[in-house]
This record gives sequence, C-alpha cells and structure tokens, in this order.
Amino acid sequence: MLTILLILVVGSTTILATDYLLLIDDPDIYTTCREGPPGSQGLKEAFDISAMSVEMDPDGIHVSGNITSKWDLPRTDRLTVRMSVLHYNRGSWEPTVFNSYTPDFCATMFDPNQYWFKYWFKNFENRKEIQEKCLATPGTILMYNPFTVVPQINNVMGPSLKGRYKVIFLFEAFNEKDERRPSSVCFEITGEAEKIKK
Ligand SMILES: *[C@@H]1O[C@H](CO)[C@@H](O)[C@H](O)[C@H]1NC(C)=O
Repeated sequence: MLTILLILVVGSTTILATDYLLLIDDPDIYTTCREGPPGSQGLKEAFDISAMSVEMDPDGIHVSGNITSKWDLPRTDRLTVRMSVLHYNRGSWEPTVFNSYTPDFCATMFDPNQYWFKYWFKNFENRKEIQEKCLATPGTILMYNPFTVVPQINNVMGPSLKGRYKVIFLFEAFNEKDERRPSSVCFEITGEAEKIKK
C-alpha cells in the first residue's frame, strides 16, 4: 500500500523532520506496472478484488472486504517482493534511495517487525488461512478487518520530497530449484508528495 512510502522514510532519528501527504492519482490506487517484466500481471489479474472496497475521502483511505487469489503456483514456491520508489524528474522516472527487498515473503508476512505487517497484513482477519496458503494459491481469501490509511509520510529526513512519486511492487516466484517463474505480479501507486504545513 501507499503507506509503504511512509515506512521507508520514518524510523530514523529526527533532526529536521517534515510531514508529507501523498496525493494519489488514481481512484483505483493500484495500477498495473507500465514497465513490468515480461509476463507480469497486475494486481487485478492476479487477485479478484471485486469484493474489496477502497474509498478515499478527506479522512484517508478506507479499506474493507475481501481479496481472493487467482495466482496459481505450487505452495512450495518462494515469493520475493521488491519495492522501489521512483521520482519523476525532467520527463523520466528516476530511482531514489527508498527501496526494499523481501526474499521470502510467505515466511515473513506476519512478522510484526516487517513493514508489510505493520501497514498492511496486520489488517487481515484470517491469518491462519493466509499463512497456510500464502498468496499464490487460487481461492485463498484475504479478509480485511476494515481499516483507514492516512497517506501521510512523517518525519522525512534529508532532502525534501517534492513532486511526483511512484511506488512499484514486484512479486516474483522461484521454484524449488530456485528458478524464476515467468509469472510475476507488478503494480504501482502514483501520487504527488505535498508538505503538510504546521
Ligand atoms: C468475505 O469472505 C467471507 C468468507 O468467505 C464471507 O463470509 C464474506 O461475506 C466476504 N465478504 C465480502 C464483502 O464479500
């Protein structure tokens, strides 16, 4: 989720902290990667999100309902997640220092120290089922306890955030021989960073 941006940036000690709000472009929030790897599918191809509700209003983004997996891989596969934040500058998307890589997502998605958990997975009600089947078993339901996300980035250190940002999530799968599967899931969130006046 977009809260990821916040996660990347918080956590450090504070010297000249600034708070930011990320104004999201698309009412759907997650869009399929424009430049995903060949064979990658978007969130909506890999998961049925028709029973999920995402509503934006001035209080934040209200999320509830269910997500059902359509992604079909053996449970023994290892899923990795790469998250990258890009900044739009002079006509192109440039990398930033905000990136992360999770080498074994299924093993760590409910680890309370992981940002995945803090900002996203802690909101799922049926943890046992999700832990057993992980994300790439068709029919697995991820049931949300309704929650609200404030797309706010707190205490940003260093150079100030300005302009357009994009967060890319790439889920990839590796079989038991550690060979990468052609099937991957890639989606992105694009928005405008705005400084919150205090
Ligand atoms: C979510 O899934 C549960 C379990 O299958 C079901 O009881 C519930 O009605 C679903 N909720 C929505 C909004 O579809």
